[in-house]
Amino acid sequence: MKRRPLIAGNWKMHTTTAEARDLATAIAGTCVGVDDRDVLLSPPYTVLRDVAECVGRTGIIVAAQNVCWEEKGAYTGEISPVMVRAAGGSAAIVGHSERRQIFLENDEMVNRRLTGALAFGLTVILCIGETLAERESGDTFAVLERQIRKGLAGVGGEAMAGVVIAYEPVWAIGTGKTASKEQAQEAHAFIRGLLAAIYEKDIAEQTRILYGGSVKPANIDEIMAQPDIDGALVGGAALDAQSFGRIITFR
Ligand code: G3P
Repeated sequence: MKRRPLIAGNWKMHTTTAEARDLATAIAGTCVGVDDRDVLLSPPYTVLRDVAECVGRTGIIVAAQNVCWEEKGAYTGEISPVMVRAAGGSAAIVGHSERRQIFLENDEMVNRRLTGALAFGLTVILCIGETLAERESGDTFAVLERQIRKGLAGVGGEAMAGVVIAYEPVWAIGTGKTASKEQAQEAHAFIRGLLAAIYEKDIAEQTRILYGGSVKPANIDEIMAQPDIDGALVGGAALDAQSFGRIITFR
C-alpha cells in the first residue's frame, strides 16, 4: 500500500519572529511544485501564526510542538488545541523525547494530550523511541510497545486516521548518529505489526510512521527507501531552508 510521504520539521526552541518568518518563507519557496508528499512545520508557539501566514495556501501543515487536552482553563504554560487552530495550525506533536526526558511527561500524560488534540480535530504526531540504555539492554521493542499501547489508549480505529507515529531513537537525536537503515526499518516494521495487532491490518497499512534522529540531506534517500518508513521528523536540518528543501525533495 502506498502511503503519502510526510516530511516534518521540528524547530524545537529556535527562531524569533523575524527568523521564523524568513525560514518559513524560504521553505515554502522550496516546496513549489512538490505535490506528491506532505510537508509540515512545527515552530515554537509564539510564531505559529506567523509561520501559518508565511506558508499561506501552499498546503504546508503547521503544527504545535505540544498541546494540552483542554479547550481552556487554569493550565499555566500550556496551549489548547483550539488555540492552535485559531493560530492557523492543524496538527501537534506529542510525546517528544525531550518532553519525556526533560519535562518528565509520562505515557499517561502523552495519551491525554493525544486524545484531547484528536477530539478537537488536530492531526497528532505521536513520538516514541528507546534510549541507548534501553537498546543496549535489549528492551527496544518492549519500550516501543509500551509507548504505543499507552499512548494510543482509548483511540479507536477510525480516529487513527488523525494519527502519525514518529519513531525517534533517543540516542540518534541531535547526536549525528543515525539509526542504520536496517535498525530503522526493523523498528518501523515492529510498530506496524503492533498496530495491526491492536487495530487491524488496514489501519496499520494506512498509518504513516516517520523516522527521526539526525536526518540530513545525505541520508534521507536511503531512509526513505525503506518499505515501512513513510517520512521523517527532522530537527537540526529543518532550521536550514536549503537542507530541509533537499530533504523534502528526497528521491
Ligand atoms: O523531532 C526531531 C528530532 O528530535 C530529531 O532531531 O536534530 O536529530 O534531527 P535531529
